[in-house]
Amino acid sequence: MSEKQARSLPKIPRHVAIIMDGNGRWARERGLPRLAGHRAGTENLRRIIEACVEFGIQYLTIYAFSTENWARPRDEVEGLMDIMEEVIDREVPKLHEQGVQIRHLGKMEGIRPELQKKLREAVELTRNNSRLILNVALNYGGRDEIVQAIRKMIRDGLSPEEVTEERVAQYLYTAGIPDPDLIIRTSGEYRMSNFLLWQGAYAEWYFTPVYWPDFDKEELRKALEEYARRQRRFGRVEPVEEPVR
Ligand code: IPE
Ligand code: IPE
Ligand code: MG
Repeated sequence: MSEKQARSLPKIPRHVAIIMDGNGRWARERGLPRLAGHRAGTENLRRIIEACVEFGIQYLTIYAFSTENWARPRDEVEGLMDIMEEVIDREVPKLHEQGVQIRHLGKMEGIRPELQKKLREAVELTRNNSRLILNVALNYGGRDEIVQAIRKMIRDGLSPEEVTEERVAQYLYTAGIPDPDLIIRTSGEYRMSNFLLWQGAYAEWYFTPVYWPDFDKEELRKALEEYARRQRRFGRVEPVEEPVR
């Protein structure tokens, strides 16, 4: 896909969020352990980040590990954390070179200290980059995010009248990031799984049966074409082009 082709779409979402699902089933269908699926998933992530840059997407949010995923077998959780550390070591220097800014969405508490350190360092290293903002949702839960925000507002002594939609948004992990325009879920599951509950209020959803390790640039292009055909109304009668943000 050339840059020209990539940019030929009539409208491109500013913020794309992805529930990267189906690694386990991808592996099982090949007679491989689940962790092999997670490794294949991270390989794919590199390709999709590149494609997002080519398409001119400004914000990409990826769901890497939910607050509920701790309930998986210990070996899988530990293996996933190992993979994430490896991926940060291997990919962050390249991402930094490409001008990608990395942000973490989620609770640091509960993540093993080595991974916390790597995450903080990646965020710090890339903080002035602006080609693509990559939000990594790791130990992220939409309900947890809202609870953390409420606690912080109370601690800050906000009066009831000061609690507005704008103010709440400023207390979320995504403070300063526009809401997602398009949320993609791979692997044929049709649910939110606690992802961007507040921010996704008016997102367009795109579901595909393709497992995450097989969701390539061509699949992303199909999602973007579908998005370009959608009419967003935000509760009105007439389509609204892009919301003023
Ligand atoms: C998504 O793939 C990755 C994570 C949740 C970490 P899954 O591991 O959920 O794969 P399936 O849904 O079992 O196939
Ligand atoms: C959502 O996928 C979380 C991530 C992709 C990180 P899950 O596979 O955990 O979701 P459920 O359990 O099928 O809802
Ligand atoms: Mg899953």
